[in-house]
Amino acid sequence: MRALPQPKGYPWGSFAHLPRWAAEPLALLEEGAALGPVFGLGLGRRAVVGYSPEWNKRLLSDLQTFRSRGSFSSLTPYLNGGIITTDAPAHRPQRQELNPHFHAKALAGLEGRIRAALEEIRPSGDFEANAWASQVAQRSLNLAYFEGRFPRAELAHFLAPLKQPFPAPLLPRPLLFARVRRRIAELQAAGLGLAAHLPAEEVLIGLAAGYDTTAHTLAWALWHAACYPAWHHPAGHPFLIKETLRLYPPGFIGSRRVARGLMLEGHFIPQGALALYSPYLTHRHPDLWARPLTFDPSRFQGRIPAWGYLPFGGGERICLGMHFAQMVLGIALSLFRHLEPLRGDPAPKPGLTLAPAGELWLRSSA
Ligand code: HEM
Repeated sequence: MRALPQPKGYPWGSFAHLPRWAAEPLALLEEGAALGPVFGLGLGRRAVVGYSPEWNKRLLSDLQTFRSRGSFSSLTPYLNGGIITTDAPAHRPQRQELNPHFHAKALAGLEGRIRAALEEIRPSGDFEANAWASQVAQRSLNLAYFEGRFPRAELAHFLAPLKQPFPAPLLPRPLLFARVRRRIAELQAAGLGLAAHLPAEEVLIGLAAGYDTTAHTLAWALWHAACYPAWHHPAGHPFLIKETLRLYPPGFIGSRRVARGLMLEGHFIPQGALALYSPYLTHRHPDLWARPLTFDPSRFQGRIPAWGYLPFGGGERICLGMHFAQMVLGIALSLFRHLEPLRGDPAPKPGLTLAPAGELWLRSSA
């Protein structure tokens, strides 16, 4: 059995990497990845990070061993509940109840209404893509879950901390959550939208899981549509979106708690440790992707490596809102004829999810 390599840290045992994790997680992940396909981190608890397709497959397929409850999502009240904290064996039947509502076919009826709602807020002239994308994500979720009847300011207020720097997304907000739960119950009682067919907790979790992820992806996709106009047309958009999610996966790290000690890629991983997978590292690995740092949607016209592309995770826990997000992204991109990049910083900045580091100013013209 080999010792796990570790990037530079403090001599604090299982806390060795916490300061760097808070300040510069992407640099820390990249430093670890350079040491080998599996590396260790001290994040207050022993953590093991891998990024190979084999690692991803194992971690995402074995729901008995790799548990979601007690992983990073449990640290934020926004993601600590519902299907996200449900583990095997209850997870499968619970997903079977939820999945039919989120299939592409089930969502098709929403497309026209979302398109009409987004037409209303389509910017013309100069606009900032992050701000607009946040509006798009909120309106689309509001339409899908509540037929647009959740008061807009209240929804914006509830979701705002997800996009703020740490510790804002991690703070408990019992009054705010109680208010939102009451509002959800009221709209459910009125029989509105998807919410009427789902447990209240799943509605709350869906709003939180679907907001900043979709907003950040859309902001980046608009920026790249402006920078790579050859892909800015209906047939090009699916490739443009895929490549955006390859280089900028909002869910840049996923985590599980290890329920029983096991050997993985020659290393022993003890019970209770955190096991992490990283779409960010996997998507940028030169063994899996040619010219990994080049933005090139055409790579998705060919084969993609199995378990080497996972912006929505994989296996039974694959993102519940994947089809919904893809639909919203496609509609939003198709509202624009001509886009021009003005100024901005698309470099990824980590928070709860990966976000564009700076504002992204675009010009829209007919
Ligand atoms: C571009 C937008 C999105 C991205 C990149 C994204 C990414 C992800 C990822 C990576 C996971 C797996 C997490 C893990 O393995 O630990 C996930 C799970 C999940 N996502 Fe998304 N997501 C997006 C949009 C949405 C939307 C719009 C919704 C709701 C409507 C949603 C709801 C969920 C839920 C409920 C889960 C947990 C599923 C489970 O554990 O069974 N997501 N998402």
